[in-house]
Amino acid sequence: RYPRKIFSGIQPTGALHLGNYLGAVRRWTQLQNARDDVTICIVDLHSITMPHNPPVLRENIFEMAATLLACGIDPAKTTLFVQSAVLEHCEFNWILSSLTTMPRLAQLPQFKEKSRTLRDVPLGLYVYPVLQAADIMLYKATHVPVGADQLQHIQLAQHLSRSFNSRYGEIFPVCQALIEQNEASRVLSLRDPSKKMSKSENNPKATININDAPDVIAEKIKKAVTDFTSDISFNLSGRPGVSNLVNIHALVTGQSIKSIVEEAKQLDTARYKERVADAVIAHLQPIREQIQMHLAKRNELIYMLEIGAEKARQTAQQTMSDVKQRLGL
Ligand code: ADP
Ligand code: NA
Repeated sequence: RYPRKIFSGIQPTGALHLGNYLGAVRRWTQLQNARDDVTICIVDLHSITMPHNPPVLRENIFEMAATLLACGIDPAKTTLFVQSAVLEHCEFNWILSSLTTMPRLAQLPQFKEKSRTLRDVPLGLYVYPVLQAADIMLYKATHVPVGADQLQHIQLAQHLSRSFNSRYGEIFPVCQALIEQNEASRVLSLRDPSKKMSKSENNPKATININDAPDVIAEKIKKAVTDFTSDISFNLSGRPGVSNLVNIHALVTGQSIKSIVEEAKQLDTARYKERVADAVIAHLQPIREQIQMHLAKRNELIYMLEIGAEKARQTAQQTMSDVKQRLGL
């Protein structure tokens, strides 16, 4: 197979949690190291669709860049850049906004959910999925790794590619969502294991951030909600709390679930939690150090992002030039 064109975006929301890392970012590094052509965009323009604090956003952009590098994204292999540095995203967003309808955007679940919490709904929040389609289509991405909650947005991008192609000529591939089907890649909340680990739970005790200090990680895992059975077994539906710990343990060590359960035979939950904490801390320690190292070299980060933006611009400008010509602009 020829190299696939992979595009993914991530909002600069500061620290990644273990779910984002194990479910998304680590996968990107695997794709990057295969033959795929990978583009990763820090989507700051998406972040301003909800209330935000400018100095915090600026810092979070650098923190996300440092974090992605620390997790193994290699700018020599992957095009890594910040969305607002490539003006074509906004330009294409405008053009695509004329190819879709208001009812179509109004029924998207993420819009409904986020707009419910706001008194006045910004237009940007409404148009957000169109900008996301622009992100994907500018690079003619064929595959877009996302969480299952993003499927409707990918369907909008597919719809926009088809509409564009049928009105103005075939220039866009219809992208496919790459959704991790494997249950095992889902990391659950430490406080409520019926849900996935998510920053939207708004409970710092429910998530492990990849830059959490070792004692913080140990404490969060110690307090993780399990059940009243003290031995260790793996049964995601029956015992989600303890199974989530086994799963995290397997993901950070690369060991199989089976061998982990086997080795934990003599342990009760309290002792087992210490073992999981040690494994998570050991896995995250070098990443945490790398994040600090990259953040301390601010100028190198800025330079790296500028090189990434320059690479992205070349493709984006080529696409926009085709698009404008087809539209009679
Ligand atoms: P959050 O729910 O914390 O806001 P996002 O929706 O921003 O996370 O997700 C960013 C990426 O991380 C997506 O690709 C998503 O699939 C992945 N991801 C988020 N939470 C988890 C989780 N608990 N387990 C596995 N992957 C996750
Ligand atoms: Na993503």
